[in-house]
Amino acid sequence: MSFDRSVKIAPSILSADFANFGQEIQAIEAEGADWVHVDVMDGHFVPNLTFGPMAVKAFRPHVKTVMDVHLMIAPVDPYIEAYADAGADVLTAHIEAGPHIHRTLQAIRASGMKAGVALNPGTPAEAVAHLLDLTDLICVMTVNPGFGGQKFIDMTGKIIALRQMIGDRPVHIEIDGGVDPTTAPKVRAAGADVLVAGSAVFKGGSVDNTGVYGNNIRAIRAAANAA
Ligand code: DX5
Ligand code: ZN
Repeated sequence: MSFDRSVKIAPSILSADFANFGQEIQAIEAEGADWVHVDVMDGHFVPNLTFGPMAVKAFRPHVKTVMDVHLMIAPVDPYIEAYADAGADVLTAHIEAGPHIHRTLQAIRASGMKAGVALNPGTPAEAVAHLLDLTDLICVMTVNPGFGGQKFIDMTGKIIALRQMIGDRPVHIEIDGGVDPTTAPKVRAAGADVLVAGSAVFKGGSVDNTGVYGNNIRAIRAAANAA
């Protein structure tokens, strides 16, 4: 995985057809996805439940780009090795998920993955001030995590602050929640480079009609690049 700040579209398979993950992953990549975003929820840290390491391992052979695994679970540390074994390229933990995010990020890197830290809407940018050299990606949640299809919460000030704090460190800023062609330019202008989009990529399409995914991905990318 090389580092750059170009716009990367990361469709969230939370909005895919759960009976056809392999085909859905192949379709979004064929239609221009840069990364594949995998939302892991535990019914405890967030009120929803998705899939665990065995499912993520089954997705792996279908992902030719970057498998970006977003853990919405607590605790995180007992599962880090399982997600490394499942083949995650980036493993992101929430800062709110436990008292020892510093240790968690070290453990993720020690397991050979890129380490991400996610911030809920209520968590300030300053919370990562002492983590910048331990992290490869900061995920700014623009919804409260747990569900796809929620309304975008404007976090422009937080993104600008993070971009300034990061300076020239090779740290991605990822935006997750409510990203579509209307909101993408705002977050791009503020300094984001990885744009997660679930409903805005999958809406109107299906495994039998995957061209729609391509149109949706291009619309988000074009809007972001025009910012
Ligand atoms: C929310 C997840 C997101 C979600 C985004 O808890 O982390 O990745 O799938 O979905 P949309 O793009 O529909 O807001
Ligand atoms: Zn996510």
